Amino acid sequence: MLTNDQLSQWDRDHFFHPSTHLAQFARGEAPNRIITGGKGVFIEDRDGRKLLDAFAGLYCVNVGYGRTEIADAIAKQAHDLAYYHAYVGHGTEASITLARMVMERAPAHMSKVYFGLSGSDANETNVKLVWYYNNILGRPEKKKIISRWRGYHGSGLVTGSLTGLELFHKKFDLPLAQVIHTEAPYYYRRPEAGMSEDEFSTHCAEKLEALILSEGPGTIAAFIGEPLLGTGGIVPPPKGYWEKIQPILKKYDILLIVDEVVTGFGRMGTMFGSEYYGLTPDIMTIAKGLTSAYAPLSGSIVGDAVWKVLEEGTDEYGPFGHGWTYSAHPIGAAAGVANLKLIDDLGLLQNVRDTGPYLVQAMKTAFGDHEHVGEIRGEGMLCAVELTADRATRAAFDPAKKVIPTIVAKMAERGVIARAMPQGDIIGFAPPLCITKEEIDQVVAAAKDATDDVLAAI
Ligand SMILES: Cc1ncc(COP(=O)(O)O)c(C=O)c1O
Repeated sequence: MLTNDQLSQWDRDHFFHPSTHLAQFARGEAPNRIITGGKGVFIEDRDGRKLLDAFAGLYCVNVGYGRTEIADAIAKQAHDLAYYHAYVGHGTEASITLARMVMERAPAHMSKVYFGLSGSDANETNVKLVWYYNNILGRPEKKKIISRWRGYHGSGLVTGSLTGLELFHKKFDLPLAQVIHTEAPYYYRRPEAGMSEDEFSTHCAEKLEALILSEGPGTIAAFIGEPLLGTGGIVPPPKGYWEKIQPILKKYDILLIVDEVVTGFGRMGTMFGSEYYGLTPDIMTIAKGLTSAYAPLSGSIVGDAVWKVLEEGTDEYGPFGHGWTYSAHPIGAAAGVANLKLIDDLGLLQNVRDTGPYLVQAMKTAFGDHEHVGEIRGEGMLCAVELTADRATRAAFDPAKKVIPTIVAKMAERGVIARAMPQGDIIGFAPPLCITKEEIDQVVAAAKDATDDVLAAI
């Protein structure tokens, strides 16, 4: 077997890691962590250290690690039929069964699911669906997509444009011209301290309508949003937000794409975030929790109204010219079937409803009154601790001090993984949905101790 030193050197010499400081990593100035196993909410690295993964990988291992039911389903599928494509009407028992299971769980007005591999490619598909839809309807100028600052929708060309985070645009020549951004529904960063949540929601809705009118409603095809902002800082929408946004979209005949990549399949304690916030999507994006990341698989769920137009389109123009070699890959589909069954069998939605509020409350109790805690927020099995240099002004820390990455590193020394969110002084928590209250206590203690230590040293 390779020694850790050898593997670590190969890692630095050959492996181009995503979302990584390339130069620091290659020079050995940033840590590498090599993971070998996992069970429940814990992962283990090559040094034999056990870590409680309070971010479920990238909020995707929803059923927890080491589930033999899914591993066995994958193995069986690989033995029986590792691959067949889904073009021109081909399918497998796994992909058809999964389509059925997804649609049984989706809102009643949704019609079909298109399977891809990642959240990014699913959103790429969604933009193409929307453009195709408007071309078939004879509205070729209705093509722009409105996203929100701080939204996260992937890191492709269109999807990286939809993403409203600086890091994902900088030096990549993004966003592309067809994508425009509106106000983030981020109450903690409201423009006037005196605004109520409801007033801030009205402000966001007014900003959206003003943008639509200035661009011209006839040029806007769709609005995309996560039910609650995920990678942008784990920010639940302010009260009344979606109730005010949805009628504006209806008024100007703008499709609503609800990106359920994080919120789908239980993270909110409901099957989808749309159900949790009362959204009526035209298209939904799913990934992560669809397979709990045991194999890559994503999907675009298309509502009845859009589907009808797509059908008309192919009657007029021939087959729908969009597909990936690995669309509906049978191994991903088999993982999805076993995973969705497991979510039901383990009662994970109920666990989120019971245990998710405990996560947020325990964080608040432990250090909500810390002088540098600006806000502790969360819904479902999601929580964020936002720190600030100054509670009164909500000022950010000097980025050179790397406050959040240092806290997260200290937490790892205490055996808990959290995520330094990419924009803002925010620590993110999104554990597997099977986490217990005792395990949450461990997460909270590590977060509090690490925060106390790091801030005392500044
Ligand atoms: C809401 C949302 N949409 C899309 C994506 C992109 O998914 P992927 O990384 O699988 O391409 C993510 C990834 O974190 C996400 O959080």
